[in-house]
Amino acid sequence: MYSTIQFLHSYWAYLVLTILVLATFNALIKFFGNKEFQANDFRISLFALIVTHIQLLLGLILYFVSPFGLKNITANGMGGLDSFSRLLAVEHPFVGILAVVLITIGYSKHKKKLTSRPKFKVLSIFYTLGLILVLSRIPWSNWF
Ligand code: HEM
Repeated sequence: MYSTIQFLHSYWAYLVLTILVLATFNALIKFFGNKEFQANDFRISLFALIVTHIQLLLGLILYFVSPFGLKNITANGMGGLDSFSRLLAVEHPFVGILAVVLITIGYSKHKKKLTSRPKFKVLSIFYTLGLILVLSRIPWSNWF
């Protein structure tokens, strides 16, 4: 169970980062370029929302089955974690959830806007923040 979820979460992360980078830059470039909001812009922002939600689900399961998630905190206490263990058990999960919340807010807010520029503006702000948060707390040294 643990190794399957760990494998899925690890490889799904490539898709999450690729789509999130594409959706974020798409919104930024079209906001600054004053472009019309088209069906493909909707699709890529929706796709980014879906892949990040799947990653959230995998991450939540992993948090309870991994020896580096909740089990590490229960075994050693918060004070007993070194900085890398804290990254895996606390910072990465917490910041990951926050990033998904921001992406979800951005997606739902953009749907309520009626014209192109406000749609791209909201997506640019919330997806950029989400992307920065995700990138800031990925356990890079474990991953590569
Ligand atoms: C939303 C974007 C997220 C991305 C891109 C992401 C990506 C990653 C990556 C690349 C790793 C390292 C995998 C490896 O060692 O091969 C990892 C580990 C981990 N992630 Fe996430 N993650 C995300 C969200 C979350 C969330 C929301 C949680 C929990 C609530 C979570 C829980 C964990 C845990 C516990 C580990 C360590 C697992 C282990 O090595 O046993 N992740 N994540």
